Amino acid sequence: MKVRILGSAAGGGFPQWNCNAPLSRSVREGRPGFRARTQSSIAASADGRDWVLFNASPDIRQQIAATPELHPRADGPLRHSPIRAVVLTNADVDHIAGLLSLRESEPFALYASERVLATLRDNSIFGVLRADVVDRRPLPLEGRLELAGPDGAPLGLSVETFPVPGKVALFLENEAAADFGTAPGDTMGLSLTNGTGDENPLVYVPGCASVPPTLRKRLEEAACLLFDGTVFHDTEMADSGVGTKTGARMGHMAIAGEQGSLEALSGIGAARKIYVHINTTNPILDPGSEAAARVREAGWEIGFDGMEISL
Ligand code: MLT
Ligand code: MN
Repeated sequence: MKVRILGSAAGGGFPQWNCNAPLSRSVREGRPGFRARTQSSIAASADGRDWVLFNASPDIRQQIAATPELHPRADGPLRHSPIRAVVLTNADVDHIAGLLSLRESEPFALYASERVLATLRDNSIFGVLRADVVDRRPLPLEGRLELAGPDGAPLGLSVETFPVPGKVALFLENEAAADFGTAPGDTMGLSLTNGTGDENPLVYVPGCASVPPTLRKRLEEAACLLFDGTVFHDTEMADSGVGTKTGARMGHMAIAGEQGSLEALSGIGAARKIYVHINTTNPILDPGSEAAARVREAGWEIGFDGMEISL
């Protein structure tokens, strides 16, 4: 299985369009070691020919342009794409807005939880993906399925779904409700394997609020773990003066701290552990920072756009 990180940043990308804080300025100015990053998405393929996107970011057009494997094949018909399916892990803007760029009557299969499919149904703009062209397929809250293309042909990739602690998408929050109206299916994690699902998977969890023991057990099985790296410090947005929300308020556990992912996932045996969905305020985006050094010392890699993973 080949996996490629298309976008390693959180919602807004790096630099975020309106962010003038030092990290964003540094990448804009091209300071050594800083890399621009597009919004959150990965692609996977069993055979290097047919591809599945996991999340469809607002930067999808740029991501496809930067990834020759996702271009129409030179020997393909006049209208064609190797993207045979899209799988969504939640309904956040950074994970669904790219669907709008996949209109143009190109068939693909669209997998998401019932909750996320309902959000797409309720927002009529997603009707540009005509139901007779883009087949909506519900993901179980917990279960395994073989991904198939729009024609039903298997793509050689097996996905196991599992619920992850998180929060309903920002634009769906109900301020009056407990947990802002979050319900099962709002945030999913995925274990991905070639074919039969017998080998150790790539586990993809771009959003996660905490790691209860059942989730940790699942993450322990990963050959490669792509995990929520939104913020390093829970309060970094307030600390740097750019906002008031904590990571926890956004449904993202921090990397550092007693409740953080470095601590919660210490001792995980995955051969590769990679932070993705990195917010424009996260100090690990500066490779010379103490935060980046701490992450690397703990055996984590800092995801970047175009990063390739072979399993
Ligand atoms: C998130 O990951 O918390 C969301 O993408 C935030 C947002 O929608 O701006
Ligand atoms: Mn997000």
